[in-house]
Amino acid sequence: MQYKKLGKTGLDVSSICLGTMAFGRWIDEEASRNILYQAIEEGINFIDTANYYGKGQDTEVPYGTGESEEIIGRALKGRREEVVLATKVGIRMGHGKNESGLSRSHILKEIDRSLIRLQTDYIDVYQVHLFDPNTQLEETLRALDDVVRSGKVRYIGCSNYAAWQIMKAHGISEKMNLEKYVSVQPQYNLLSREIEQELLPFCESEGVGVMVYSPLARGMLSGKYKSKDDAPLDSRAAKGERLIQNYFNERNFELVSKYRELAEKNEVSLSQFALSWVLNQPAVTSAIVGASKPYHVTDAVKISGWKWSAELLNEVENIN
Ligand SMILES: NC(=O)c1ccc[n+]([C@@H]2O[C@H](COP(=O)([O-])OP(=O)(O)OC[C@H]3O[C@@H](n4cnc5c(N)ncnc54)[C@H](OP(=O)(O)O)[C@@H]3O)[C@@H](O)[C@H]2O)c1
Repeated sequence: MQYKKLGKTGLDVSSICLGTMAFGRWIDEEASRNILYQAIEEGINFIDTANYYGKGQDTEVPYGTGESEEIIGRALKGRREEVVLATKVGIRMGHGKNESGLSRSHILKEIDRSLIRLQTDYIDVYQVHLFDPNTQLEETLRALDDVVRSGKVRYIGCSNYAAWQIMKAHGISEKMNLEKYVSVQPQYNLLSREIEQELLPFCESEGVGVMVYSPLARGMLSGKYKSKDDAPLDSRAAKGERLIQNYFNERNFELVSKYRELAEKNEVSLSQFALSWVLNQPAVTSAIVGASKPYHVTDAVKISGWKWSAELLNEVENIN
């Protein structure tokens, strides 16, 4: 397993981060715990969750219910120090007017709820889940600074932010002498490369850590989907994930078959090929792998040290 500093911090994180959006949602507590323990055993020290992850994501009640954090909290009892724990705040967590967003009120309420669910007294990386256009950044950053000063949080990060939003936040933090976002969590994979335009060059220039989500395009880049109407029974698409539908178009199915040929030529599975491509992008600190079965962790760890040649990187660029 490779480890890197998260942005400009002194924190060492594994290049594979375990994503836990499946915990308590598509897989039960025992399966989730086994995957978590296996990941730690195989050298993964970086765990990503969110207050929002759990059954609430799929129910008629449109708010998070916290099962992923609860499962991690129970599983990590006595083992907390073995991991760097990242969670998030910002998506709706109840019916009330102030149960979502990045107001001071919501952040201060949610940090305490996350600490209780995770059974810990600190979060390593506390991330805002998405930009909140209805709250002044000054208010959000002041509240985040307070949770760091109180010892409840060690570093702050953001997710789904554009480069200009991080730049603006950094400027405010600088001016007001507040904690700065040390990392960003964007979507990035062979089928979704928009962040190469602005965000990745920005992060490299400013030393912002990049932990990318959906490196396998929610499973599309495993090759398990042959068409949009043909989801294997044990897949997320069959279990009702809506967002994966965005990947199901003719162009992507065509690209997947071309990437599969390249993977075969290099004697790795398509999942490993796609993950390894992400890990070979210099701006990327960690790829957050969404494992729902033990072999997903094993496959990811096995490939984590593969350094690509310039020729192979070029072969990907020549696919169109
Ligand atoms: N910040 C955000 O807004 C945001 C959004 C999305 C995700 N995330 C984070 O990022 C994490 C990862 O996202 P993701 O789950 O979309 O990532 P992903 O790695 O792109 O997709 C994971 C899915 O790919 C399939 N898979 C993984 N390894 C495989 C293998 N070796 N062989 C075959 N299939 C394999 C599995 O599908 P099946 O389960 O169908 O088998 C798995 O559920 C989440 O858990 C969460 O922590 C953050």
